[in-house]
Amino acid sequence: MDYVPAADRLPAKQGDGLGETDRMTTMVDVARRAGVSVATVSHVLNETRPVRPDTRAAVLAAIDELGYTHNTLARSLVTARTRSIGLAVSAISNPYFTEILQGVEAGALEAGYSLLIADPHDDPAHEQKVVRLLHERRVDGMIVAPSAEPAGMAGYLTRRKVPAVFLDRLVGDAHDQVCAENTAPVRQLVEHLADLGHTRIGLVAGLPGLSTTTERVQGYREGLRARGLPFAPELLAGGNSEAEGAQDATRHLLAAPEPPTAIITANNAMTIGTLRALRDLGLDVPRDIALACFDDFSWADLFAPRLTAISQPSKEIGAAAVRLLLERLEEPDRPPRTLRLPCTYVHRESCGCTGAGR
Ligand code: HPA
Repeated sequence: MDYVPAADRLPAKQGDGLGETDRMTTMVDVARRAGVSVATVSHVLNETRPVRPDTRAAVLAAIDELGYTHNTLARSLVTARTRSIGLAVSAISNPYFTEILQGVEAGALEAGYSLLIADPHDDPAHEQKVVRLLHERRVDGMIVAPSAEPAGMAGYLTRRKVPAVFLDRLVGDAHDQVCAENTAPVRQLVEHLADLGHTRIGLVAGLPGLSTTTERVQGYREGLRARGLPFAPELLAGGNSEAEGAQDATRHLLAAPEPPTAIITANNAMTIGTLRALRDLGLDVPRDIALACFDDFSWADLFAPRLTAISQPSKEIGAAAVRLLLERLEEPDRPPRTLRLPCTYVHRESCGCTGAGR
């Protein structure tokens, strides 16, 4: 082990004419209190070299006694790294994105990075602004869930060679990206409902322009084709990825001359809107209409009936985004990668199966 020698210790000094509250405690103060060199304090704080356990303990005790706070900004001026990651994710209050954030936070913390978080509100202009602001704070890299019109934001990052990872929504293949499988799981929901005898299956789809929307609609079409059912445009309604849009879309679907007997909602927010519309219309799930959802959420099993849902690996998506970003920081020139993580089918009762998944 390459221990820091005990030589070059600063002598402990009692008082320097300044009261402890009169000025900021410095690394020199810590070194004096612990009876070690400033370099040793620095190695303990920055984990740049192994330090003997007893010396380390003395330094940590001195830090605690003096109430010293490490100034990482000063270090950043030397290293040109801030050990911070910028995270731009819309709809942070949506449990899906909250869990992604938890995954990012845990991964970042483990690697010694802190997070700066911004919400672009799925607005392309706002997205460009927050990405620029994060970059101006000199984050070492960025993780972004792109909006439906991400070209401006992606161009900014590319031109400035900012290490970046996109998550959830894919944007070409010029950047590292991570998302869940979207097509196969929706196809599976359609096939299941068709196998239960439904021939009129509606889809409440997300915001146009998001890759998640395109892929889930593709899964819907594939499922219909696999079961020999025709694609009926009037059964595909746009819910704009949010509850209100889905409520309107569901009312629209059910006002059709030949309404669907089963509905698939393409995300958790839209599931809420669809459930509201069904309740307002006095329709019972699954007796009057079957329901299957993309996105599970922690209270989906409290609904009566419990919701049959596709569960996304949200925390894993967040953790994988951090891993991809750290790899990119290590190896800036490696080719971009896209990771797709599998979803889990959570079979409950809203599809019409009784006692399913127990
Ligand atoms: N993408 C993927 N899954 C989701 C989203 C989204 O924007 N919103 C809720 N679940």
